[in-house]
Amino acid sequence: AASFTTVEDGKLTMATNAQFPPYELVSDGEGYEGTGFEGIDVELAYALAQKLGLELQIDDMDFDGALVAVQNGKCDVVLAGLTYNEERDLVMDFTDTYANGVQVVIVPEDSDITTLDDLAGKKIGTQRGTTGYIYTSDEFGDDAVSAYDDGATAVQALMNGQVDCVVIDNAPAQEYVKANEGLKILDTEYANEDYCIAVDEGNTALLDALNTALDELQADGTVQAILDKYIQE
Ligand code: ARG
Repeated sequence: AASFTTVEDGKLTMATNAQFPPYELVSDGEGYEGTGFEGIDVELAYALAQKLGLELQIDDMDFDGALVAVQNGKCDVVLAGLTYNEERDLVMDFTDTYANGVQVVIVPEDSDITTLDDLAGKKIGTQRGTTGYIYTSDEFGDDAVSAYDDGATAVQALMNGQVDCVVIDNAPAQEYVKANEGLKILDTEYANEDYCIAVDEGNTALLDALNTALDELQADGTVQAILDKYIQE
């Protein structure tokens, strides 16, 4: 029998910010398996919950709130295209990685920003609480970086000329560039990252169960199939 417990009996409660296509988005319809949500993390969480004999429950909130929700014991896991980093590792525990992320720079097609060196002195848009915000504010200072509620709002600020570029993960960046005319992604990459699932610091029983289930889903090709469904190269 499973040795872990969850916030709600029989459920795996997932904290996320469903403004991050194609990892998580609010569905126009019933969503994946009736969850109301779609995306890589939604399908992965559903598969993991099944392996653990749990029903998936998705709690949609701000991204920075999702990180706090597991630490406060309100949710069991964060699946949110969440990047592993050492600072977060002090307050949460991370599973093995299931996907790769790259921080990229979105600019208007006619921008004078052509390489990363051109970012100095520019106004940078990011999503609040993300690694995009952390890296750019570390490098260029808080004043250079605006933090928006979600990536789409940051991209809207770029369209309106309030910022000169947006630093965000490559997968949503592709979607935003497709959805908004006149934008492009720089060829040079700002940072390379591993996406992982997070649980509360010290919740080793759940962490181990998730890693075992993730291993199986990786070995049988499920993880790759989910990634391939949403990300076309
Ligand atoms: N990978 C970045 C980070 O971990 C951004 C994740 C944003 N995710 C979201 N669901 N809004 O900071």
